[in-house]
Amino acid sequence: MTDKLALHGGPQAKPTPYTLTNRYGEEEIVELRKALESGKLMGPAGIVEEFEGELASFFGVRHMVTVTSGTAALHTALCALGVAEGDEVITTPMTDIGTVAAILALHAIPVFADIDLDTRLIDPASVSERITAKTKCIITVHMSGMPCDMDAFMAIGDETGVMILEDCAQAHAATYKGRMLGSIGDAGGFSMNESKQMTTGDGGFVATNDDETGRIASLFRDKTYIRDGSVGRGGQPIPFFALNYRANGLHAAVGRAQLAKLPGLVARRRAIASRYYDELGDLEGLSLPNIVEGGDPSWWPIAARYMGKKTSRDDVVDALRAEGLTISTGMSPANNILRTQMVQSKRYYPLTDEVPSFWRDVVYDPDSCPNVDQLQDSVVRLPVDERYTDEDVDQTIAGVRKVWAALIG
Ligand SMILES: Cc1ncc(COP(=O)(O)O)c(C=O)c1O
Repeated sequence: MTDKLALHGGPQAKPTPYTLTNRYGEEEIVELRKALESGKLMGPAGIVEEFEGELASFFGVRHMVTVTSGTAALHTALCALGVAEGDEVITTPMTDIGTVAAILALHAIPVFADIDLDTRLIDPASVSERITAKTKCIITVHMSGMPCDMDAFMAIGDETGVMILEDCAQAHAATYKGRMLGSIGDAGGFSMNESKQMTTGDGGFVATNDDETGRIASLFRDKTYIRDGSVGRGGQPIPFFALNYRANGLHAAVGRAQLAKLPGLVARRRAIASRYYDELGDLEGLSLPNIVEGGDPSWWPIAARYMGKKTSRDDVVDALRAEGLTISTGMSPANNILRTQMVQSKRYYPLTDEVPSFWRDVVYDPDSCPNVDQLQDSVVRLPVDERYTDEDVDQTIAGVRKVWAALIG
């Protein structure tokens, strides 16, 4: 006898909503008050610089450069690593569009490598196949807080001279062989938008151990202005083209309070994830992602896959949702960036279909990353959030087991 599914009128496994308390509290208010009372919010000196120092020591890097978003962080990092017009940058089409926008903003060419279905992450073997004389950089996207195989990518970098940029937008405080993600490659780019492990509403930062990369990143996010007092008004040399991506004291105040919460938050996510692995790992046809050797994720909703034959993935998802479970089937907002209108038509400008010359001769085969499509068609994401109570997690596990018993047996 199996329990009657909520889909068929039975009682829900999760009858109450998930616990999602406000992520901002007294700690942020105290820091914001201090920032406002200081009378100086504009960066990059003052509280912004102090916050960058705290980030650098937490993540174990020499330089941290705060910016206004994860997209800005990746754009700034790629620029500081020397990526220029016509260079190829290899990444995965299963990422946020910000990763790809950062490449295109430099008139560099995004090249898409497939993912490894076991780890659900960019596959070093697929990347190797796509390296050409024009490849300048590889962006390893640590999706869902899961570390990529950094030994393999650093070996590719050593062999070919290609730079490695870690996209850590979803992976704050995840580690690989004891090192924080973002501190391993030539640079790292982080987002602090509101879906991330730490947030300032929007925001981001660039991590690097290289002094020159840090120096250029710092100039690039601030229109190249020199602000150490050595240059008078009227005397700025403006050595190269740059933008204004400066974070301000409000970002830094909230960010500093959020950074203090990060270790506890990641520990809670790890505890929830390990319950899913322990208590759902035996279910037939349910595949949980493999963690690369030496990796310690900081976790997002887990990209589990339904691999069974007894019913369809969509029927499984419908049944889980009817039980009251928060289950998503998207790995990123656009799922497979290869299939977007922008990439397929190489649409760079909104009001003209003129393709800029750097991009004109590039051809994108929408079927060239089949593992991304396979993952999208089979993924059943298990919810992870540090705010969940033990009861939320108990009910989620019970709901998955109930649906499996009823549909898959
Ligand atoms: C993997 C990944 N890269 C880049 C970004 C871009 O970050 P942002 O939204 O802060 O620009 C995001 C966030 O959405 C992301 O998840």
